[in-house]
Amino acid sequence: MSRPILLGVNIDHAATVRQARYRGSHASPHAEPSPLAFTREALAGGADGITVHLREDRRHIQEDDVLAIARLPGVRLNLEMACTPWMTDFARRLRPAAVCLVPESREEITTEGGLEVAGQRDRVAATVAALRDAGIEVSLFIGPEATQIDAAHAVGAPVVELHTGAFANAWLSPAADAELARLRAGCEHAHRLGLVVNAGHGINYDNIRAILTLPHLHELNIGHTIVARSLLTGVRAAVAEMKAHLRGGA
Ligand code: PXP
Repeated sequence: MSRPILLGVNIDHAATVRQARYRGSHASPHAEPSPLAFTREALAGGADGITVHLREDRRHIQEDDVLAIARLPGVRLNLEMACTPWMTDFARRLRPAAVCLVPESREEITTEGGLEVAGQRDRVAATVAALRDAGIEVSLFIGPEATQIDAAHAVGAPVVELHTGAFANAWLSPAADAELARLRAGCEHAHRLGLVVNAGHGINYDNIRAILTLPHLHELNIGHTIVARSLLTGVRAAVAEMKAHLRGGA
């Protein structure tokens, strides 16, 4: 039997809700919801990993959130970050299990919305090397096109996270099949090169059925839909429901 696909729960939007009320005082004991408490509940619900994006504009997750979550016993932390010297230094000191390099500025973004690796190979290669040197697994968040996958392989990243946003936007429209086919080709191409294949962005409790038809998936990173569902069901149940999909039982 093949191994179940892992579920990385992206908790950024728990922090988005907190920041809506507590921007400037997020460390106050009254500030809620707590991303740390959300993390504990997500792990109790069966999350295989926790993902946070420490954005340069600090619009949701803050540095002290990342430090507190990294200290939790048993958490496999995936830090999403821009490809900058400051973030690289932060990650090398933190040493999370994994880092996913994502675009933040306009010029780093491909038409797919993923990281423009092919157009800035030297910069990405230097960041990948510095992170791997600290013992961190590195993935690149890229569109499913072959040029970006080839570039990710060439710069030494062992993992790619394929951007599922275009597919999610097309879901339930006539364009969805073509987007899924592009993702399928991307999964196959990356796998042929020996890359570990993750995917994420815009996956929800409905379109997950189609995503699970893709080959070679190792991990899915899912955030918004789980945070949204948890408002109705609680975090544990929301995570457990998505886990059941990944196990093929929902
Ligand atoms: N993967 C990456 C690289 C992301 O940046 C995000 C959040 O934007 C996600 C996955 C999760 O996306 P969503 O919140 O739409 O599930």
